[in-house]
Amino acid sequence: CGIVGYVGHRQAYPYLIEGLRKLEYRGYDSAGIALHSQQQLLISKTAGKVAALEELTKTIDLSAKTGIGHTRWATHGVPSDHNAHPHRSQNGKLALVHNGIIENYATIKEELLKKGYTFKSDTDSEVLLNFIEDIKTNNACTLEEAIRIALKRITGAYVILVLDEDSPNTIIAARKGSPLVIGIGNGEHFLGSDASPMLGHTKEVVYINDYELAIIKPDELILKNLGNDIVTPFVQKLDMELASIEKAGYPHFMLKEIFEQPKAIQDCLRGRLDSTTHQITLSGLEKVKDKLLTAHRIIIVACGTSWHAALLAEYWIEELCRVPVEVEYASEFRYRNPIVGPDDLIIAISQSGETADTLVALENAKQHGATIFGVVNVVGSSIARLSDSGIYTHAGPEIGVASTKAFTTQLAALLLFAIKLAQYKQKIDTATSNTLINELQAVPDKVQEILNSQLEKIKSIAHKYVDAKDFLYLGRGYNFPIALEGALKLKEISYIHAEGYPAAEMKHGPIALVDENLPVLFIATKDKIQEKIISNMQEIKARSGQLIALVSTDDTFVSSMADDSIEIPEAHETIAPILSTIPLQLLAYYIGIARGCDVDKPRNLAKSVTVE
Ligand code: G6P
Repeated sequence: CGIVGYVGHRQAYPYLIEGLRKLEYRGYDSAGIALHSQQQLLISKTAGKVAALEELTKTIDLSAKTGIGHTRWATHGVPSDHNAHPHRSQNGKLALVHNGIIENYATIKEELLKKGYTFKSDTDSEVLLNFIEDIKTNNACTLEEAIRIALKRITGAYVILVLDEDSPNTIIAARKGSPLVIGIGNGEHFLGSDASPMLGHTKEVVYINDYELAIIKPDELILKNLGNDIVTPFVQKLDMELASIEKAGYPHFMLKEIFEQPKAIQDCLRGRLDSTTHQITLSGLEKVKDKLLTAHRIIIVACGTSWHAALLAEYWIEELCRVPVEVEYASEFRYRNPIVGPDDLIIAISQSGETADTLVALENAKQHGATIFGVVNVVGSSIARLSDSGIYTHAGPEIGVASTKAFTTQLAALLLFAIKLAQYKQKIDTATSNTLINELQAVPDKVQEILNSQLEKIKSIAHKYVDAKDFLYLGRGYNFPIALEGALKLKEISYIHAEGYPAAEMKHGPIALVDENLPVLFIATKDKIQEKIISNMQEIKARSGQLIALVSTDDTFVSSMADDSIEIPEAHETIAPILSTIPLQLLAYYIGIARGCDVDKPRNLAKSVTVE
């Protein structure tokens, strides 16, 4: 979910609605705002996107100078007007927006029902709000005090913003586990789940920490912990430009972000890789060098696309550094009592730095003494702050819900990591390391070459397979994680069922699906096991499957086997998977567009999943 808030000397509505639009990628099944207007709370909310909310608010009084807003990704209760936020408390005096999940809401709801409370929604958030109201009424205390007491009772993750009809010009906010940024203006404060809504308004921001509560007025920001001690806000400079979160003439953020990859990867490598001296400089790695040299193993924890980056990193690190690596889904790792301790280095990969499962998995590992190394895109995010050290991927803001440039920059950062670690451990000879460094440096240009030369071909392949019901993506070795990522991209964007599989393992199941209607995409670029993948292609061809192949430029042998082929510039086999990602993103994009899908906001998905 995305939340926004404004308190100041201007009309709140323009910031709130514009902010919700910028945060819509975090959830878009319903939207709403609450305005504190002349001693009363006006709430407008609706199922649907922010545009529907705008329509709804056309006729209401928008003069209020204080307000909160929400765009939802449903957890409890279907997307509906009732379940949309903000919620109003039973006595009508409080309004709340909530991002996160209240795990013990059922017990609290039970207690409130016994006291005669009724509920207008199916959400855990309304339960929390009425719980706060109940505490406030019974203890005759301030809202701030009531929130503090309530939060001590609840388990789960939250960021909440609360308005009180009796306290004009004030928002009370609190967080645990879900993100909240406060932008500081002149006589005004801007709130958001991330900093994007405040771009163009202020460059000074405060990232609220877990278990902190903020009392926000036009001229005042008071931060406290749940023990009621004052905490000094740490004001940081916002390092982001407005243009970076706009579409810049592209029809969709996804396409813009695909095309930004040469620059994003360059930004990730900048200052870290010197192809003249063949040096890699990673200050984050330097900081934990001793740990790296003594760690018995590396565990990589991530979700979604970031998990695919983890899988490729496992192959790279084991190959180059000869250290055992395990890759874990964060959601599994955190609940299966994993064996982890001070001898382990944990690499956390996360674009947003806010994914709840990843965050909690890391907190658990940290408690067991493990060192955390973050590979994160969003500067100042929760995972970045929790990490002992790390590498920022510098992809710039990624707005399209399906990850593209964040993934390829994660790969670039992880390969830098692997080469540097191999150097530390003296597991790589100078010639190999120089080759990889040169090849990595050449990636942005080669990505550009694919974008320039293969676009039209990819569009026509997309057109040809637009009505497919299923898709199989196959790859071996370094290309196996890319096959998984290609399939995920297609699934997310076009809603076509797609599976990624190790090409040889295909014989043990998916081959049963193959007939003349099944497109099978092979990543068959030149590498030391190319012959093996060619055999797998023959196996599909023998069963009349439709073959699409990613081939190295001028590899006429493989391209002639396939019904359709896409060319990847020649590259070292370690590097080629980064390049192979690009056509798969484009293929998913153009199939999605042809099927009329909302590629930037695919149904049911959210960019940043801050609930478990
Ligand atoms: C969501 C997004 C994916 C992303 C995953 C992990 O599911 O839709 O694109 O890969 O979360 O997010 P993270 O920010 O931790 O990389």
